[in-house]
Amino acid sequence: MSDECASHERASHEIVRTRSGALAIRSLDADEVMHPGVGPMAEAEQLYVRQSRLAERLRAAEGPTLVLFDIGMGAASNAIAALAESECAPPSAARLELISFERDSGALRMALSQPAAFGLEGAFGEGARALLGRGRYETSRTCWRLEDGDALAALVRQTSRPDIVFWDPFSPRANPSLWTVAAFAQVRRKAGPRCTLFTYSASTAVRVALLLAGWAVGVGEAIGDKSATTVAAVRATDLERPLDRNWLTRLSLPKAPLPFDAPADAVKRAAAAPQFSVAG
Ligand SMILES: C[S@@+](CC[C@H](N)C(=O)[O-])C[C@H]1O[C@@H](n2cnc3c(N)ncnc32)[C@H](O)[C@@H]1O
Repeated sequence: MSDECASHERASHEIVRTRSGALAIRSLDADEVMHPGVGPMAEAEQLYVRQSRLAERLRAAEGPTLVLFDIGMGAASNAIAALAESECAPPSAARLELISFERDSGALRMALSQPAAFGLEGAFGEGARALLGRGRYETSRTCWRLEDGDALAALVRQTSRPDIVFWDPFSPRANPSLWTVAAFAQVRRKAGPRCTLFTYSASTAVRVALLLAGWAVGVGEAIGDKSATTVAAVRATDLERPLDRNWLTRLSLPKAPLPFDAPADAVKRAAAAPQFSVAG
């Protein structure tokens, strides 16, 4: 693997083997591995595509298009898993408008050097190369578009309203701006009325940031060695396991973790979220 990396001029990424045995991409700048637990293909499928019920939503969509924002495209494992679902949907299903946000295409370029390991063989590899070359890949079932550059700036420009958001930046240590109240408020402003958002983080600070940004917040599935993930929704009734009042007790601890841009009354405001009211 190091030989392959060495063949890339000033590589910003390398291919590593995760604990599960799957290959994954590590960013040298962020010093973090993408999908480090169960590996990229399994995590993309379990955490993002299956939890979001993408297949079902494509089939049940009221309009002709279902919009998915893929925040932090990386090696495109989440995007390819979504594309695969869309490509095998029946003709009566909605077309998928998949918008990937990314400021560094190095991970996808690196993944294309080992297509079998990253689900990039055949048409999916062709799609990824078209996306990198022209910023777009289209089939009768899917329109996949790249928003190249800072995701927060690109979010402001979007005219499509997402039905589903995959929120997959590196950790708050490496990508602090994407875990703030401001970032989640930005995507909440764009969200469609039944939008749901999925992320691997189950941290209290991230959940508080989502609540303060106007999302209803719930517990997502355990994946690999993560005991929980997080699901957020515009409508609390779209959550299977919304956070309840018991969860709020952790916010009364003196050192309760809060997002970087939390206002002084963050705890009070989070506790006032409609999902915690007696009426729900
Ligand atoms: C954990 S990786 C994403 C893995 C990816 N979802 C996949 O399926 O392979 C995080 C990605 O977010 C990107 N990123 C971080 N901050 C960003 C920002 N402000 N704007 C755009 N992309 C960003 C990084 O460049 C990195 O590729």
